[in-house]
Amino acid sequence: MSDKVIVNEVGLRDGLQNQPRHVPVEGKLDMLDALIAAGVRSVEVTSFVSPKAVPQMADASEIYSRLPLDKGVTYEALVPNEKGYERAVAAGAKTIALVLGSTEEMNQKNIGMSLERATEVNIAVIKRAISEGIKPRSYISTALGCPFEGDVAPEVVFDLAARMFEAGAAEVAVADTIGSGDPAQVKFIFGTLAGRYGAERLAGHFHDTRGLALANTWAALECGVRKFDTAIGGLGGCPFAPGATGNVATEDVVHMLERSGFDTGIDMEGLRKAVAVAEKHTELKLGGRVLTWIESQERRRQAKASAAAE
Ligand code: COA
Ligand code: ZN
Repeated sequence: MSDKVIVNEVGLRDGLQNQPRHVPVEGKLDMLDALIAAGVRSVEVTSFVSPKAVPQMADASEIYSRLPLDKGVTYEALVPNEKGYERAVAAGAKTIALVLGSTEEMNQKNIGMSLERATEVNIAVIKRAISEGIKPRSYISTALGCPFEGDVAPEVVFDLAARMFEAGAAEVAVADTIGSGDPAQVKFIFGTLAGRYGAERLAGHFHDTRGLALANTWAALECGVRKFDTAIGGLGGCPFAPGATGNVATEDVVHMLERSGFDTGIDMEGLRKAVAVAEKHTELKLGGRVLTWIESQERRRQAKASAAAE
């Protein structure tokens, strides 16, 4: 099985959409540059959603017009409907990510549609994207638990994933939007979907509300999944899913994977710089667990070196 893992950075979208402090275009591009310098090659950069619903993403078209295109980075944009799709394509998007909540109420709150209507809209946009040479990715969000309806039956997730794959989705990202999932649930859902569609067509998207995101990542890895959405510094939270905290931190996932013999192509020193850049622009204290550990190791080494010099 491949030891290469794609770490798809979603901090600029999932991470920033809920921030009270608006990060201007320059700040977002600065964050992106730092991520690319660290070796990140897959980025969800923005969403083409209603600026009234998510003011932080009102600059989506401008962001797209200023993306560095010569660095071998795959960029994607989240779209909630046909209008978002059209805006994304007009701005130059080649990969889009559709979003389908697993429950009735989540879709109503997030995109103002019933589950059935949202499913139809997703299918129509996927088909249109394929016919226009655009790669469609599908999020099944709140798949491991809904902030409004609670538990979600795995059969519901299987059914929605089946409908997205049948429509032609290149990939389905199963999203634990509020971080309520656990590794046993992940094993069952990802294991079943991997058996049906192939693990290479799946991605994991875990929020870290209960500190289980790394364990969930590992459980999905064991099912053969090799693509994960993460956010620099653990930024994140969905404005329409109360209780959701940040995505699992990019640096924690990269650390775990690299220590375990997987290849992400991403460099930890570069990520530390990217966390600092994200902190500057969001004015938040950010950083995954691994940073505390790296800093304590550095302090230990410095103390040893100065003791030896005395
Ligand atoms: N981008 C920008 N504007 C959009 C849009 C899009 N993708 N889709 C609709 N609009 C505009 C319409 O043109 C209309 O504008 P007007 O008032 O100037 O005429 C207005 O929004 C209302 O359109 P309507 O179709 O009634 O949408 P709505 O108000 O029910 O909102 C969504 C639906 C999907 C646009 C909105 O709920 C949304 O953007 N949700 C995204 C939530 C999100 O980002 N969640 C986190 C990521 S999962
Ligand atoms: Zn998310």
